[in-house]
Amino acid sequence: MTSGQKQWLMKTNIFPKVTLVGAGPGDPDLITVKGVKSLKQANVVLYDALINRELLKLVPKEAKTIFVGKRKGFISHSQDEINEMMVQKAFQYGHVIRLKGGDPFIFGRGAEEIDYIESFGIETEVISGISSAIAVPASQGITLTKRGISESFWVITGTTLDKELSNDVFLAAQSTATVVILMGMDKLKEIVGIFKKFNKSEIPIAIIQNGTTKNEKIGVGTIDSILEIVETQKLASPAIIVIGEVVKHSVKLRAFYEVVASKNGAFQLYE
Ligand SMILES: C[S@@+](CC[C@H](N)C(=O)[O-])C[C@H]1O[C@@H](n2cnc3c(N)ncnc32)[C@H](O)[C@@H]1O
Repeated sequence: MTSGQKQWLMKTNIFPKVTLVGAGPGDPDLITVKGVKSLKQANVVLYDALINRELLKLVPKEAKTIFVGKRKGFISHSQDEINEMMVQKAFQYGHVIRLKGGDPFIFGRGAEEIDYIESFGIETEVISGISSAIAVPASQGITLTKRGISESFWVITGTTLDKELSNDVFLAAQSTATVVILMGMDKLKEIVGIFKKFNKSEIPIAIIQNGTTKNEKIGVGTIDSILEIVETQKLASPAIIVIGEVVKHSVKLRAFYEVVASKNGAFQLYE
């Protein structure tokens, strides 16, 4: 920002700032207190598709709210347009909140946005959110780590910049870690193929669509059975894929695996 611009802004009483706020996974109660406080001080809010609209009620009446997400595959604004809009609105109105699903720094393009805004000398802040990667499995009783069962977890994108499945899935499938995949529904067949290649056909898997919302849907099975389950239950994006022994340890999902175990002896629970 030039000194001329600064002087002009002081006169207008506008203090440009952009805050990236993580809205949490979908349940409006799963935003942080800090996130709520900042929404209450917004002059403009640019929000994504997966944001629970209840949160917009926290924004002052005189503030502007602008949808910048994807709707049914249609992109309302390109990333470049969103970047420009954040800067322009900050200079025009002051405090811009960029409200993003889950956590802004987990597959949220938060870093790109910060870099762009900072290049204009505008103050930025990031208010972390509860990522769907953790909260959605938890809502189904799935713990990503458990003593003696899972020592770590990977959170991987199903779709990279080149629209390919991340090679990390291939690496993760060879580990004993819990594997959490976001944006992976279009690549589910490929994911299943990779786990089978490493003789993991019997590994439990859960797919949770619209987790923590009233439209939540879940399909559970094994690597071997999941494609059929997805088809039968018509599971689709946005969904979290969780692969690992921890899935069958969920108090909510245990019963499913006990039934399967008694039918074909595929699982040994809590030996
Ligand atoms: C662009 S990524 C953004 C992730 C976000 N920054 C986070 O931390 O949760 C969007 C993907 O997150 C996952 N996702 C987000 N919210 C979800 C929800 N409520 N239920 C299931 N999956 C969700 C889906 O895989 C979706 O395609």
